[in-house]
Amino acid sequence: MSDLLLEVSGVTKRFGGFTALEDVDLVVRPGERIGLIGPNGSGKSTLVNCICGALHNEAGSIRFMGEDIGRQPTHRRIRLGLARSFQIPKPFASMSVLDNLRVPLLYAARRHEKIAKSQITDEAMHILQQVGLGDKAQAMSRGLTQVDMRKLELARAMAAKPRLLISDEAMAGLSPAEVDDILALLQGLKQQGVAVIMIEHVMRAVMKFSERVAVLVAGRKIAEGDPQAIAGNPDVVKAYLGE
Ligand SMILES: Nc1ncnc2c1ncn2[C@@H]1O[C@H](COP(=O)(O)OP(=O)(O)O)[C@@H](O)[C@H]1O
Ligand SMILES: [Mg+2]
Repeated sequence: MSDLLLEVSGVTKRFGGFTALEDVDLVVRPGERIGLIGPNGSGKSTLVNCICGALHNEAGSIRFMGEDIGRQPTHRRIRLGLARSFQIPKPFASMSVLDNLRVPLLYAARRHEKIAKSQITDEAMHILQQVGLGDKAQAMSRGLTQVDMRKLELARAMAAKPRLLISDEAMAGLSPAEVDDILALLQGLKQQGVAVIMIEHVMRAVMKFSERVAVLVAGRKIAEGDPQAIAGNPDVVKAYLGE
């Protein structure tokens, strides 16, 4: 049995004649913190969509928990422990913050007998407190500020009790203090043994967070290594300066 949580190998994804991902490899071990960076349009979200099942890759394989999940429906992948937050948060706008968490928790309760239905509200409150939304539980989601919306989006991903959480640009457009808030939240997941793939343009945050960073440029992984090596890699610097 492999010690890898996620094993992406040789993944290629095309949209018509356009190749969005080409022969991409990526592995994640349990509890590991991975940064995934790259210019806009380099294929980061497409890779997340292939991993989570929103898109199907044309070539390559995706294994999670030792299982080939490449052709499995999204709900099966969630059940195995995959969760993602969306670049554009998609909470149920007309529900309270609390109810937005109760929905995924009810879903999770069906597979984890550990959570009795009566405990759902307690569990939802616990997660909201963890992300700093405890005092906004009764607020309507549509009235939240941008940073609180991002926190709710991450809380919803956490409610599924994932083994791997993929955070797709949870920090875009936030102030430095708000970035630190989200960073602390994602760093806290380590204690729960949750692995994280952080997709982010805020370089300070990615470099601080990640044990390993992978770089996508135009659908190809051009580099991978520890944050310091990546920050000093001439190919990466060139890609970011758009030379
Ligand atoms: N559903 C789609 N149909 C056609 N092209 C797409 C689709 N999704 C993404 N693309 C294209 O694939 C490329 C990679 O997009 P994306 O994965 O969103 O990049 P990133 O998340 O790195 O900014 C872009 O050129 C984008 O226009
Ligand atoms: Mg994206």
